[in-house]
Amino acid sequence: MSIEIDILNGDASWKQVAPLMDAVWPRHVVEKLPWGHIEWAHADLRVLIDAPWDSPQPGLACHVGIFFRTITWDGRKVDVGGIGGVATREDCRGHGYATVALNAAVQTMRDHEAIRFALLFCEPHNEAFYQARGWHRFEGEVYAEQPEGRVRFDAMAPLVFDFTRKPRDGVIDLCGLPW
Ligand SMILES: CC(C)(COP(=O)(O)OP(=O)(O)OC[C@H]1O[C@@H](n2cnc3c(N)ncnc32)[C@H](O)[C@@H]1OP(=O)(O)O)[C@@H](O)C(=O)NCCC(=O)NCCS
Repeated sequence: MSIEIDILNGDASWKQVAPLMDAVWPRHVVEKLPWGHIEWAHADLRVLIDAPWDSPQPGLACHVGIFFRTITWDGRKVDVGGIGGVATREDCRGHGYATVALNAAVQTMRDHEAIRFALLFCEPHNEAFYQARGWHRFEGEVYAEQPEGRVRFDAMAPLVFDFTRKPRDGVIDLCGLPW
């Protein structure tokens, strides 16, 4: 099976992605979740995968957002890549789309030499999915900006993908909104 992957500008492609996000995370459901009140950063790039043209329901099947950010880790500036908004349409799950999109996102980050590691945040029930794909738990503390100021960001589990650094502990400051 050949899968066509698009990597597009984050803002320009948002209109294409919004219906998938609304379907996977409906507003009335998200509102009641522990992370429902969080203000999130917008993706810089987006990996998009369409369902095959001859599938019963063509259109966008999978999305992964890519973020670029200079954060601090134990007080030192580090360029990292972020992953967020990983979602596959319900009827398209289990076909490897999220795995392919994640790999494309990681490869895109690797093309930026300054990036030392990748970082994502997930709900506990999804940790195993990422760990099976080479991601590791970051056991330290994470801080981020929110409208009310700098806050401890512990609504989700931080996971890292090692490039030239292997962060497992310490203090990460996202120096901006989380993703
Ligand atoms: C998690 C998600 C993105 C996976 O998408 P997908 O396109 O079906 O993923 P893939 O086809 O690449 O991989 C599916 C495999 O991951 C496994 N998997 C899916 N969710 C999992 C989880 N929460 N924990 C462990 N394994 C999981 C499947 O069992 C399947 O295993 P198999 O290949 O051995 O059969 C999709 O289920 C989804 O959109 N969920 C709702 C939104 C969400 O929670 N996103 C993650 C945000 S951090």
